[in-house]
Amino acid sequence: MAVGIFDSGLGGLTVLEAVNARLPDQPIVYLGDNAHAPYGVRGQDDIYQLTRDGVQYLWNCGCDLVVLACNTASAAALRRMQEAGVPQGKRVLGVFVPLIEALTEREWGDNSPPRGVAIRHVALFATPATVASRAFQRELAFRAIGVDVEAQACGGVVDAIEDGDMILAGALVRSHVEALRRKLPHPQAAVLGCTHYPLLLNVFSEALGPDVTVYSQPALVAESLAYYLQRHPQMAGTGGGISYVTTGDAGRVSDRAALFLNRPVTFHSA
Ligand code: DGL
Repeated sequence: MAVGIFDSGLGGLTVLEAVNARLPDQPIVYLGDNAHAPYGVRGQDDIYQLTRDGVQYLWNCGCDLVVLACNTASAAALRRMQEAGVPQGKRVLGVFVPLIEALTEREWGDNSPPRGVAIRHVALFATPATVASRAFQRELAFRAIGVDVEAQACGGVVDAIEDGDMILAGALVRSHVEALRRKLPHPQAAVLGCTHYPLLLNVFSEALGPDVTVYSQPALVAESLAYYLQRHPQMAGTGGGISYVTTGDAGRVSDRAALFLNRPVTFHSA
């Protein structure tokens, strides 16, 4: 059975690549909601409706398990969808929990009460909608106490990457890191809370300096998914294979994705 990976657009391909490298035998359906991207500047209700539609599409494709690769979708929609109730046998997971488990040095799925942890000062870089939702802080508070999170809304970075302008994207990242440092001069850890930011990992790491541990999501999400499928083998499949689906213009999205991944990719229309 295929696992669904949902993103607002192309950014989730960073997560897809890591999942495919970790679980090459697992069939995957990737859905990018390019017709409605970017999500990061939309309101919470809007993001919720779009995410719910995308997840429903993937469930209808036969994916019992859907991963919201998109932080903005995870922030605005995951808890709300889970509280509204998902159909029997279906599951939807987000990307914050694996990241927070790594940050707080917890075992995957450890639901014990919050406790003090080694890291006290965390910088969160994310889209304006993710920052506004405070979902990261909320999920962190379930697991750790005494951690100070300073969030920086990184306006413009996703658009610059989507436009292929990595020089502008790099300049914006450096200015967002400077702005963060004005609020939190000595972060111990930095979280790249957007699927696009791993593409600029070196710029973030350089701007933050060697004393800051940078947490990037794709490998963490892939590892926690592998662990989840081990515990829920009925949701896993065999034989590999990836279907790329978009709500946008399939030809245009395929061209952009090929630039993103440095190899040809063929998207189909949803
Ligand atoms: N994929 C989104 C995320 O991880 C960012 C892109 C967007 O704004 O749509 O937050």
